[in-house]
Amino acid sequence: MTLSHTDQSWPTSGISFGGDYNPEQWHPDVWREDVDLMRQAGVNLVSLGIFSWGLLEKAEGVYDWAWFDEIVDLLGENGISIDLATPTAAPPSWLLARHPEFPPVDHDMTRHWPGARLGWCPSNRDFRSHALRIVRAVAERYGSREHVVMWHVSNELGGGNGHCYCDVSAAAFRNWLKSRYGSVDKLNEAWGTAFWGHHYGTFDHILPPRGNDAKNPSLMLDFDRFSSDELLEHYRAERAVLKEVTPDLPVTTNFMVGAEPDAVDYARWAPHMDILANDHYTRSSDPVPQQDVAFSGDRMRSLTTDRRPWLLMEHSTSAVNWQPRNRAKNPGELIRDAISHVAHGADGVMYFQWRASRAGAEQFHSGMVPHAGPNTKVFREVRALGGHLRRLAPVLGSRVPAARVGILFDNEAGWATRRGVKPNNFLEYGAAVRDWHAAFWRRGDGVDVLPPWKDFSTYDTLVAPQLFLVSDDTALRAEEFVAAGGTLIVTAFSGIVDENDQVRLGGYPGAFRRVLGVWTEEFYPLQEGETFRLDNGWSGQEWTEHVHAEEADVLARYQGGALDGYPAVTVRTHPGGGRAVYVSAGIGRAGIRALVDDLVEPPPEVVGRVPGLEVGVRHTTIDEFVFLINHAAEDATLNISGTELLSGLTTEGSLVVPAGDVRVVHRSRPA
Ligand code: GAL
Repeated sequence: MTLSHTDQSWPTSGISFGGDYNPEQWHPDVWREDVDLMRQAGVNLVSLGIFSWGLLEKAEGVYDWAWFDEIVDLLGENGISIDLATPTAAPPSWLLARHPEFPPVDHDMTRHWPGARLGWCPSNRDFRSHALRIVRAVAERYGSREHVVMWHVSNELGGGNGHCYCDVSAAAFRNWLKSRYGSVDKLNEAWGTAFWGHHYGTFDHILPPRGNDAKNPSLMLDFDRFSSDELLEHYRAERAVLKEVTPDLPVTTNFMVGAEPDAVDYARWAPHMDILANDHYTRSSDPVPQQDVAFSGDRMRSLTTDRRPWLLMEHSTSAVNWQPRNRAKNPGELIRDAISHVAHGADGVMYFQWRASRAGAEQFHSGMVPHAGPNTKVFREVRALGGHLRRLAPVLGSRVPAARVGILFDNEAGWATRRGVKPNNFLEYGAAVRDWHAAFWRRGDGVDVLPPWKDFSTYDTLVAPQLFLVSDDTALRAEEFVAAGGTLIVTAFSGIVDENDQVRLGGYPGAFRRVLGVWTEEFYPLQEGETFRLDNGWSGQEWTEHVHAEEADVLARYQGGALDGYPAVTVRTHPGGGRAVYVSAGIGRAGIRALVDDLVEPPPEVVGRVPGLEVGVRHTTIDEFVFLINHAAEDATLNISGTELLSGLTTEGSLVVPAGDVRVVHRSRPA
């Protein structure tokens, strides 16, 4: 088999399996039981030291390494590798007591109090110098240990300190603006500061968007961009120290990529990671959590340039603790979620956290070892999963095949949608994108969820759901995509503003008007509970608009109400056969599904279609791995031949995937 991670070796020799390990919460006697259980479960990697700063550095420059040495040794003796964290997510209480100015300040100018985590302003250089001191100390002491295989910078940067509005941040924001715009005149133009007389004579008068009054959307968008860049700077400063001490160890930080706009702009962060890592959690209220798993994987993979595997750094074995009602996972769900992440390109499955805590803010969050101990559904499934992942070692380094469908997802578009007042303030960007993803996922289509500056040419179908902010470059490349024969689907409230968050004039959906051959005169957002109907039988809520289809054919018209007879869904067929479809109304999941089925050929079948059976594929140049995940309550019988990796048995023709279970078949890649 020709498997390899291109320029960076993977931290474990097989699929990585383990989780956050926080031994400081437990007596050393428990540590021995921990490593025993880890060995039983097949754990080969743990993230260590994430919140240990205060226990490692008791006062400035005064270190207590003894307990950490012991745990590092113990893991090494038991063959467990370490993804070693820089502990900067948890500044020690002595440091925060001395520096009450370190914690971030909210938009209403209340400063966070110590007692949570990530309690620091990303722009504060004093804080950074303390952070880099502990980073260097940890790196110098442990970086050369053979079983320290990777660096985990801080933890979920931006989760707690995504924005800081303090004076230090304000000064840094001004510097950032100076380098972005060069002159204050350019900034005035970009922000449209003539409105409400906000014109600036000097950068010195600019403030972050503090307070609760309506603010200039362009200012707010730049503040979001700045905030992401500041945290990236922090990550890069830590990374530079780590690379200086251990040039060959991979460095990463854990992203939080899901269906919401991100706290920071991960698509722009990704090139600074040696290995991409994600924290993904499903929601108790989600009726189809498995689609959310697929969505996050489809986004993660699309952050790379070569579809390389990524690491699932955190997931939950069962319930989390941060939702209003925290559902325990059903039997088998832990394994299905994990295998689905692997099917979507993860070469590792890690959890928060090894052992469920007795105390502290997350005492009711599941772990790999629950409060009740190892004689439990959760630990039995953890152990079974460890066996599965060990048998899946041949999958390591293989790729998810190129997708036919690309869905655009852009943080800046999401941020700009969320900030500032809109014609309808109940449009949710992440949900809009996920609804389109669901329509394709349900049919077994391979989907990439990609940032809009990436190459479109490899896709047959490209969807721009509610892509509010669009650059000229993206608009042009979308036109080229259609000219080359692609099908572009654009939905309402896309293409509305440019990169400065200024409205594109001449009719909506500005950036896409030309390619779609339509223009919209006015938006008609609906009231809560109000519905509309189309003449093809579809209905929906939330959004309608007054469309003129000058160079497009009408697929469906509004029926009844103020827009009676006006186009609702249109298609413009271009000379090369490319199509540009505009969906001007909130047609909901059923409408989206029907439209996708009308417009886009279903994907070729891998094993035949069985309701509730999710099929994923990864391949190398010569091998193919078919992941079969049965979410249904009935067994699925399929026609497939190859070696079933979890059992090691050869299957000739017929394979049963029991209800709720998983199988992975290895076969030669078809020509
Ligand atoms: C993550 C975080 C972990 C833990 C987990 C709980 O966001 O990185 O430390 O808090 O959530 O779900």
